Amino acid sequence: MSVEREKRIAAEAAAELVGSGMTVGLGTGSTVAYLLPALARRELSIRCVATSPRTEQAARELGIQVEPFGGFDRLDIAIDGADQIAPDGWLVKGGGAAHTREKIVAAAADRFVVIADSSKPVDALRPPVPLELLEYGLATTLRRLADVRRRDVPRSPDGGVIADYHGDIGDPVRLAADLAGAPGLVEHGLFPPDLVATILVGRGDSVERRD
Ligand code: 5RP
Repeated sequence: MSVEREKRIAAEAAAELVGSGMTVGLGTGSTVAYLLPALARRELSIRCVATSPRTEQAARELGIQVEPFGGFDRLDIAIDGADQIAPDGWLVKGGGAAHTREKIVAAAADRFVVIADSSKPVDALRPPVPLELLEYGLATTLRRLADVRRRDVPRSPDGGVIADYHGDIGDPVRLAADLAGAPGLVEHGLFPPDLVATILVGRGDSVERRD
């Protein structure tokens, strides 16, 4: 229960960063599930894009206006969860297989805010790192990439195959560059610190903030 409370208070703190008139990117996951009602309660005039069909549906059911991302060339703020948060600010995301859209939305936002419970900050990142792969040439992509296994989940909304890298993450800068350069790899779940503006972590009854 306390983990759920930590997610909720982090999400509620993030909702307070949103103001009327803003364009907002909505992430995906169980922490974002607390953000949506917190935003809806504020009754702000905002325009949102969603990083997954499930976030889009949940937001709409709460009366939050969600529009296609094609109509925006930037966003004021994006708010999303994370699977792991390293001390230097690197994130691992994509436990919910939405990391490709989440990274595009985070990169489009002037301010990317991460919300998490206290289990997410880690001393060192550990595998797996989620991947999205193109179906075209999949067997050759999987053969070429070391330590990668396909995940038994549905494809992404964009038709991508979800897989995970299970090798070493000692040097995330190098790993991110290697993965980004691999033919057939659409996106990986390593998010660099310079993408992240604010981290809100629920711990017990309070929210720790890192800017
Ligand atoms: C989905 C994600 C999520 O943000 C991440 O998995 C954290 O999820 P949760 O808030 O449920 O712990 O990256 O692709």
